[in-house]
Amino acid sequence: MSRPTLLVTRRLPPAVEARAAAEFDARLTASDLPMPDVIANSAGADAILTCPGDNFDAELIAALPASVKVIATFSVGFDHIDIPAATARSIAVCNTPDVLSVTTAETALLLILSAARRAGEGERLIRAGRWEGWAPTQLLGVGVVGRRLGIFGMGRIGRVLARLARGIGMTIHYRDMARLPPSLEGDAIFHDNDVSFLGACDVLSLNAPALPETYHWLNADRIALLPRGAVVVNAARGSLVDDAALIAALTSGRVGFAGLDVFEGEPKMSPGYLPLENVVLLPHLGSATVETRDTMGFLALDGIAAVLSGRKPGNLVE
Ligand code: DGY
Repeated sequence: MSRPTLLVTRRLPPAVEARAAAEFDARLTASDLPMPDVIANSAGADAILTCPGDNFDAELIAALPASVKVIATFSVGFDHIDIPAATARSIAVCNTPDVLSVTTAETALLLILSAARRAGEGERLIRAGRWEGWAPTQLLGVGVVGRRLGIFGMGRIGRVLARLARGIGMTIHYRDMARLPPSLEGDAIFHDNDVSFLGACDVLSLNAPALPETYHWLNADRIALLPRGAVVVNAARGSLVDDAALIAALTSGRVGFAGLDVFEGEPKMSPGYLPLENVVLLPHLGSATVETRDTMGFLALDGIAAVLSGRKPGNLVE
């Protein structure tokens, strides 16, 4: 029996590629970069497995061959895929929710601690050969234990971050479209407005998806509502932040420290971040562990297999 054809647009972890090759007539690639010729390569393909940064806009989706029935993304975020355009072509879209929540929340916590305790600056000092030894006034940061963490976007990742942060003695405040049920909220404090929420953020973590409503959510007006010297971290999507406003606030000290794993238009980023010592910059490694990336790949393949066999996958984007 012939196997369905799967186009994979990026190099994937070896275990995921092995399973793709075992279950599909898989067209793999050795490249870590977005595939320039998706349309030509998807001729006759039943499914496409793609990644954040591969722009599946309406134009590309409209030009896909009629054979394509499902696009799965190797990510929980699907802002790079035009869902209405896929729906219009009756192409199902799957993503990888849940399996990366812990790993991404770990990255948010890493950013919080690294930014607040100036780990990036310390690293640069040592690597530049400029460290002259311990000194009482050197690289003084702020502690986070006992401080208030405000989470913007209390979804799966935000809730895991809340659990981890409670474990190090932070108190949790959150802002979302609706209040969580008590079983999920625990002792976290819900805010139904930006003024009270941002005023309670000694540390602000952005954990909301990229949506028109969250575009540049952290702008100059909202930054002005934060306590002076607050720590800001973003392990969600770069488009949530107005970079010019955050750079100005980091420069003036209005925001004390920031930790960023994601950037609008990445891998490009606002050059204004680069000379700032008080920002930690990571290359979008939120979900980057071997186990998590394998599990993400397997979940994406599960979704593709389900769609192609006429079943509704649990990871269908609706
Ligand atoms: C996602 O899954 O959306 C992350 O940004 C990549 O792991």
